[in-house]
Amino acid sequence: MHIQTKCVHSGKGIDTITKGLNTPIFPSSAHEYLDTDDVIYPRYFNTINQKVIVQKICDLEGAEDGIIFSSGMAAISTALLSFIKPSDHVIFQDEIYGGSYAFIEKFFKQFKISYSFVANNAESIKSAIKPATRIIYIETPSNPLLSIIDIQAIAKIAKQNNCISIIDNTFATPINQNPIKLGIDIVIHSGTKYLGGHSDLSCGAVLTTSNLAHKIRKNASNLGGNLNALSCYMLERSLKTLSIRVKQQTENAFQIANFLDNLSIVKKVYYPGLSDHPGHSTACEQMNGFGAMLSFELDGSNLTIYDFMKRLNIIKPAVSLGGIETTICDPVTTSHAKVSAEVRASQGITDSLLRLSVGIENIEDLIKDIKQALEI
Ligand SMILES: Cc1ncc(COP(=O)(O)O)c(C=O)c1O
Repeated sequence: MHIQTKCVHSGKGIDTITKGLNTPIFPSSAHEYLDTDDVIYPRYFNTINQKVIVQKICDLEGAEDGIIFSSGMAAISTALLSFIKPSDHVIFQDEIYGGSYAFIEKFFKQFKISYSFVANNAESIKSAIKPATRIIYIETPSNPLLSIIDIQAIAKIAKQNNCISIIDNTFATPINQNPIKLGIDIVIHSGTKYLGGHSDLSCGAVLTTSNLAHKIRKNASNLGGNLNALSCYMLERSLKTLSIRVKQQTENAFQIANFLDNLSIVKKVYYPGLSDHPGHSTACEQMNGFGAMLSFELDGSNLTIYDFMKRLNIIKPAVSLGGIETTICDPVTTSHAKVSAEVRASQGITDSLLRLSVGIENIEDLIKDIKQALEI
């Protein structure tokens, strides 16, 4: 099946009572256990609604097995903690979501796990490998500067050095990028973003091999972070339209990036679809589309970024991303507020940076909204 068909048809639960087309919602947290082999319990990650949604996302990513969580951070923290012990070493690319960064800084230090944040390229990651390195963790395109790293090269380095490779694939979505096919061991999503897609749901997903999923699931049942039946159902419903949503969002983002790139009052546009983006050629090779996230810096406008955001009518200043509505935020006070000012500055996350999550609205309306807010 093609991915559009998988979005609609993969992982359906069967409604034997009414023969309805949709998976029934099974809300029970208590299940009878005598005379059964498999004790069902939400925190064991084995309810029908959890299994159905995992099957769907596994099919979309080409994974053998997976786990559905109540947030992206539950997915990230549980996956990382499943494979490390004190004195192990983990390599992270230096530009990642601020919440992931904050988790690493706090808990890795506390549990004496050593780690290195290194520049977003395969050579730097390779030279950071130590005998104790267990995991290589990347995020591409990255939040918020849309940096691109060569996924296949990272997967190869990880395999050659007996490390587990992990990617946060939130920005790309399974529609625009399938890292497992490029050799990555574990794919993570904040499903709160594009998978849910309507800004009304918090969830996260880990997609991987049966063997690794089994290990993560065992830890997940100790750590918690399970997703409830109603949210599983909402996510399943959302995923049916993932491919058309992301296709439209990607097309709109491409046009907005080009529009902004041609404005003299925009200093810089970060979008992997622009031919002068440093990761453009790698993105062309490893992505099916350039995604619907972009960042830019205003320069020479009389407006502050806050004035600009307030003047927008259709586009809403909001935290989070990936919804069907276009939203905007400044990473310094939102997604990367927990990253120190020095680290942000070293990565190029400036006070005038704005991050746009492009929705499915009509492109002319979106560009008109930006123009009137910029007073051009
Ligand atoms: C790239 C990325 N990964 C992970 C997360 C964390 O996801 P959640 O907020 O669902 O825990 C976010 C949240 O913004 C994100 O942008």
